[in-house]
Amino acid sequence: MLDYNPGRMVDFLEIKGGKRLSGTVTVSGAKNAALPMLMATLLTSEECTLSNIPNLLDVDLTLGLLEHFGAEVNYFGSTIKVKTPKLKATEASYSLVKALRASFWVLGPLLARGRAARVALPGGDAIGTRPVDIHLQALTKMGADISLKHGVVFASAPNGLRPIEIDFHFASVGATHQVMMAAALTPGTTVIRGAAREPEIVALAEMLTQMGALIEGAGSSVVSITGRESLDGCNIKMIGDRIEAGTFLLAGLITRGEVEVKGFNPDHLGEFISILLDMGAILSPRENGLLIKQESSIKPIKIRTDIFPGFATDLQAPLMAALCLARGESQIEESIFEGRFGHVQELARMGANIEVHDRMATIMGVNSLSAAPVEAKDIRGGASLVLASLAADGVSRIFEIDHLRRGYANLEAKLSGLGAEIGCKPEEIEDAIAIGC
Ligand code: EPZ
Repeated sequence: MLDYNPGRMVDFLEIKGGKRLSGTVTVSGAKNAALPMLMATLLTSEECTLSNIPNLLDVDLTLGLLEHFGAEVNYFGSTIKVKTPKLKATEASYSLVKALRASFWVLGPLLARGRAARVALPGGDAIGTRPVDIHLQALTKMGADISLKHGVVFASAPNGLRPIEIDFHFASVGATHQVMMAAALTPGTTVIRGAAREPEIVALAEMLTQMGALIEGAGSSVVSITGRESLDGCNIKMIGDRIEAGTFLLAGLITRGEVEVKGFNPDHLGEFISILLDMGAILSPRENGLLIKQESSIKPIKIRTDIFPGFATDLQAPLMAALCLARGESQIEESIFEGRFGHVQELARMGANIEVHDRMATIMGVNSLSAAPVEAKDIRGGASLVLASLAADGVSRIFEIDHLRRGYANLEAKLSGLGAEIGCKPEEIEDAIAIGC
């Protein structure tokens, strides 16, 4: 909510809808690869060079965390060089961790390198409870002594960690990252059964391999990591952001335009490709990308989010915006996170007709959406409102755009390049309230 503080400048996005988008957009490096890979730099005292790093708030937060632990960070455009000669701290306070859930993933590297860690339990997006039981079970089995007090995880492994074989009850992305990083600096072979298969897992595996670990099966549900007493530096480029790519493909679809999205591997979209085709999109392969054209009306679909290569939960909110304008009734079942429908009430303010029961959203297509002042609740919910505004009649205002800054680099420039009428406006708080936001 906008806290009432007269005179506080309120940044918001203003979008005039109704333009068919066309042209080419290149996505940035993948946020969800960059975050774990930056944390993996804690595993070595040597220099790591990471390129195609996206210009995002979450990356800044992660770099601040690394510097707190003693990392020396140098920037060269979208290339970052990180070197942690020795750990200067091994605790991440709540103020460091609360804004970025993924910060919790430093626990493994700190334990493996520093043999002790204190990390606050994660905060992050308000998309339901975000348990970390799989993380803690795995690190405990690796020999860490772990206790929870006052919302902080106290962990120590004075004799170092040991290799294990473990079965995950859920293919948690974060837990897979966490255990892979800890195991890479643990001599012996660790096996994860039921591992996450996302492309970002494969990207981290490639980095850890460069650093000297031996990793087999990354991208499958059984991953083995043979670690070492010490690891080398690396020089690695981020993969393109598949969630940003999916979001821009939906921008072409919802505005009935023709958009070429480049800088990513279409194989990283998994089932989402067939979803776009089922909605009536015409897709043409392009070098390092895809061209989307939406000539027909948007067809309704029934879909369920799933682990990779199923339909990515991070594209659930953006997809829902497009289904608001489908010719008929669609259904989306959110099987990964409870509470990831915060965007529904905001879409309803724009005239969408959506019913939610537990994890199922039923979307009755409407002929048009109407512009309105709306509020982003999380990264992907914010993206959903941007897409809806691009197609709505009139001028929309989207508030709480820090959420968008966490996951979409240079968003206004990229959308303007496709013909969107979009701008970021700082305005007095009174104006925001005056328009009933
Ligand atoms: C990663 O979050 C991504 N974040 C999320 O993207 C993404 O939505 C999610 O994976 C699923 O794909 C980053 O990569 C930084 P999970 P993560 O652990 O690792 C259950 C975005 O918008 N679970 O795979 O936190 C949990 O309840 C963000 O870019 C346990 O039960 O997701 C949840 O239902 C949002 N125990 C499910 O797994 C655990 O110990 C998915 O969680 C851990 C998870």
